[in-house]
Amino acid sequence: MEVIAAVAAGAIASACQNAVLSSWLVSICPQRDYVKELGDRLSRHAHIYTPGSDDFKTATTRWSVAHAPEVKLVVVPSIENDVAETVKYANELGMPYLALNGGHGAIKTVEKMKGGIEIWMHQLNGVEISEDGARAKIGGGAKTKTVIDALWAAGKQTVTGLCECTSILGPGLGGGHGILEGHYGLISDQFVSMNIVLADGILRTIDESSEMWWAMQGAGHNFGIVTSVTLKTYDIIYRDWAYESFIFTGDKVESLYDNINNHLLKDGSQPVEIMHYSFFFNNPEVDPTNPLIMFFILQEGNMVVDPTYTTPFHELGPISTDGEGGSFLDLATWTGNDNNSPPCQKAGLVNYRFPINIESYSVPAQRQVYDLFASATKETPALNGSFFLFEGYATQGVKAIPSESTAYPFRSDNLLIAPVINYAGGDAEIDKKAVELGENLRRILHEATGREEMHTYVNYAYGEETKQNMYGYEQWRQDKLLELKNKYDPQRKFSFYAPIA
Ligand SMILES: Cc1cc2nc3c(=O)[nH]c(=O)nc-3n(C[C@H](O)[C@H](O)[C@H](O)COP(=O)(O)OP(=O)(O)OC[C@H]3O[C@@H](n4cnc5c(N)ncnc54)[C@H](O)[C@@H]3O)c2cc1C
Ligand SMILES: *[C@@H]1O[C@H](CO)[C@@H](O)[C@H](O)[C@H]1NC(C)=O
Repeated sequence: MEVIAAVAAGAIASACQNAVLSSWLVSICPQRDYVKELGDRLSRHAHIYTPGSDDFKTATTRWSVAHAPEVKLVVVPSIENDVAETVKYANELGMPYLALNGGHGAIKTVEKMKGGIEIWMHQLNGVEISEDGARAKIGGGAKTKTVIDALWAAGKQTVTGLCECTSILGPGLGGGHGILEGHYGLISDQFVSMNIVLADGILRTIDESSEMWWAMQGAGHNFGIVTSVTLKTYDIIYRDWAYESFIFTGDKVESLYDNINNHLLKDGSQPVEIMHYSFFFNNPEVDPTNPLIMFFILQEGNMVVDPTYTTPFHELGPISTDGEGGSFLDLATWTGNDNNSPPCQKAGLVNYRFPINIESYSVPAQRQVYDLFASATKETPALNGSFFLFEGYATQGVKAIPSESTAYPFRSDNLLIAPVINYAGGDAEIDKKAVELGENLRRILHEATGREEMHTYVNYAYGEETKQNMYGYEQWRQDKLLELKNKYDPQRKFSFYAPIA
């Protein structure tokens, strides 16, 4: 009897050590010492954080507190191979995992990760510029500001987001919009090669000759963890930039968006040196009854924005204006996207976005969404810190790349729009209103396009959008994505962020 018991115990112990744990084994296996077991496999400067520690708290604090994944363990790799070791170990245990970078991803689907490992990428933040200056290899956890500054010091630039605190790859794997896209295309259009840990835990180098390369440029979150990426870099052509900003009252909605259509967007032929954006927001000290509209025009290559662009907006009678000249490096601060600005703070709020891409403004629809934003944020004061963002990048560089050549599906759209509904959280009634408001605002803009398709930028998605909304309506795109997913991630290890399947 004793012998048999010992054999059985030995068999169970070895099953507990080696097997992918089926649920019955989990219940009988002694609690494994993850920290010790995984720690032994990682490099010297890697970290593991467990619940209850301050580091764990920092590592799991996100921009939006809603729909957070449930993290059991945080691993902070310090070399690329640490990511591979972590994935292999998690696979052995049957534990889920998810990369975390700048923590600004807020899509609802990530909440499906329960009891998993968060792989916090921030130590992999190197920037190495190639000898000829045409490429830079950056770590899989490098943030926008790190990359902009390192390249700038070498007289170089590439396409990055405007916000200093998001990563390159969080946005980039889903396309990635940024200030230089009018020249060079999306962030993902800059990818030359990458090191990636696939679902089997093996670290591979892939480039355009790889079958899955197409998918990494627009649907990349679905296929692996990128531990480094080599990007195209360019000589800085224009160091100078200028901005002018305007604040308008709500009675100017029609004339403002009509002006943007006629003087800036110009049927998709917006000058490459111009970027504009606006947002609705409440500021009761300035206007106690209605939201205001903040509007920015940014221009490359000038120290003052050319009056050809700004005069039509001055003529509308803004309640205030501002402006300055400086360099490319000032853009984040001017627009409130630097590391010290509100969007970069993890302020404990719920943040929901409901994105839609369109080609130009419908003036009547802009009035309708303004009025709805005004009435809803008045009726529900808890939502009155929300804003409604309308971004207008120059698009020549994006459109110059053939649509079918990458998984990014929406190259012909000109405007990137999203209400950002935020509130303190914790009230189901308000939560429902927040989602309703976001969906209704988006629906109005969609109906006004007159098109059946609704295009939603994957990186702004709320999480209930369809695959067609995020990855394109062409059946061949859906088929191709699914085929690649079946081949490279058959067990759906990378299906928490905007999953294809
Ligand atoms: C304030 C703010 C500003 C923004 N500005 C821009 C902008 O200028 N341009 C733009 O295109 N978008 C922008 N976005 C949207 C942005 O693309 C997404 O929010 C994106 O998810 C943020 O990336 P992150 O690294 O901060 O987020 P995280 O939450 O850390 O990452 C998001 C997801 O990306 C995946 N991921 C991250 N790193 C890796 C990796 N190395 N390998 C594989 N998968 C990885 C994971 O699935 C993760 O869940 C902005 C968002 C906010 C909130
Ligand atoms: C939001 O509503 C609260 C409560 O009515 C009010 O005190 C606050 O000033 C409002 N804030 C904004 C930005 O409108």
